Amino acid sequence: MHYKLAFIGFGNVARSLARLLMRKQSALERDYGITFSVTGIATGRHGCAVNPNGIDLNKALALMESGQSIASMTNYHLPITSSLDVIQHSSADFMFENSPVNYETGQPAIAHVRAALNAGMHVSTANKGTVVHGYRELTALAESKGKVFRFESTVLGGTPLFATFREAFPAAELQSFKGIINATTNIILSRMEEGETFDEAVKYCQSIGIAETDPSGDVDGWDASIKVAALATVLMNKPLKPQQVDRTGIRGITPEMVKQAKAEGKRWKLVASAERDGDSVRARVAPELVEASSPLYGMMGSSTGLTFRTDVLPDYSVSVSERPGMKGGPDETAYGLFADFINAVK
Ligand SMILES: NC(=O)c1ccc[n+]([C@@H]2O[C@H](COP(=O)([O-])OP(=O)(O)OC[C@H]3O[C@@H](n4cnc5c(N)ncnc54)[C@H](OP(=O)(O)O)[C@@H]3O)[C@@H](O)[C@H]2O)c1
Repeated sequence: MHYKLAFIGFGNVARSLARLLMRKQSALERDYGITFSVTGIATGRHGCAVNPNGIDLNKALALMESGQSIASMTNYHLPITSSLDVIQHSSADFMFENSPVNYETGQPAIAHVRAALNAGMHVSTANKGTVVHGYRELTALAESKGKVFRFESTVLGGTPLFATFREAFPAAELQSFKGIINATTNIILSRMEEGETFDEAVKYCQSIGIAETDPSGDVDGWDASIKVAALATVLMNKPLKPQQVDRTGIRGITPEMVKQAKAEGKRWKLVASAERDGDSVRARVAPELVEASSPLYGMMGSSTGLTFRTDVLPDYSVSVSERPGMKGGPDETAYGLFADFINAVK
């Protein structure tokens, strides 16, 4: 079966996905009978392209990576100037939404997903804003169209989590979860334990491309809060906004505090948690001093992980360990989108 794909947002994650799709092309055809072409790409400042015959992905990657516009790749009878034009005219079967996250409203990503579902496409996104601000609406819309709305990459960068709950925990009630879900702050705290200052550790994270120029989304706990909100919204069926998470970042953790903790055999970690409280959910992101006996104590560097408590099984934990060459960045996130695509259509 042949699938036409549209990419809305063609930054680090989407370009990793494009490379992964090309690398896995023959395996997809051999093992699943899946072939694909990319018929639309939208960016913010690098133009948009639609070509019903298929866009040359290598050329699009080269143009983006040399800072040029992809608009010249359009081969269509109408002008294509916006993301919504790409969605409307790409005739795609599957849309990948990877525009920048908007913590406050989830836009314009929600509008992109809505338009794609209405046009009869399946959708996968790494954009957390669509989940915390649009989960119920977009899931209902997808169901009404017989399509899927997937977002495996939004938490723990591509490691299966939502799919596991969907497929392997039928009718289980998630009571609470707790863990480390922001790799950047975990790297910063780990490096501070080795003697770096907060600023030096932030600079290191920026140098390996894991922290943005403005690191406040990570260090002030916003990224962890939006992930907690996404997990509570989907897995606990309690819509929660990042602003409703009791949030403290790691700016208040001084080298002296890290040193003192080390001397006592403990560590500071940015811990994310949520638990049911009657009819509502209490969610929190804050630095905690963890003992050596805690499962979080050994999670160093870019390692992340979560433990889930349900009403049906002993505690279930997922951990993503640091591994040379893998940073929990765009490549791993791209795999979650790729898996969403295959699982939706196979
Ligand atoms: N990076 C990661 O490891 C990671 C992990 C998990 C989740 N995510 C999420 O994945 C998404 C993409 O992340 P990224 O790292 O790829 O970001 P990025 O490198 O900044 O790429 C964002 C892309 O979106 C484009 N864009 C901006 N506004 C747009 C609009 N209105 N319509 C269509 N495209 C638009 C940008 O265009 P220009 O290039 O022209 O500016 C760029 O191509 C974000 O929501 C992020 O939170 C990322």
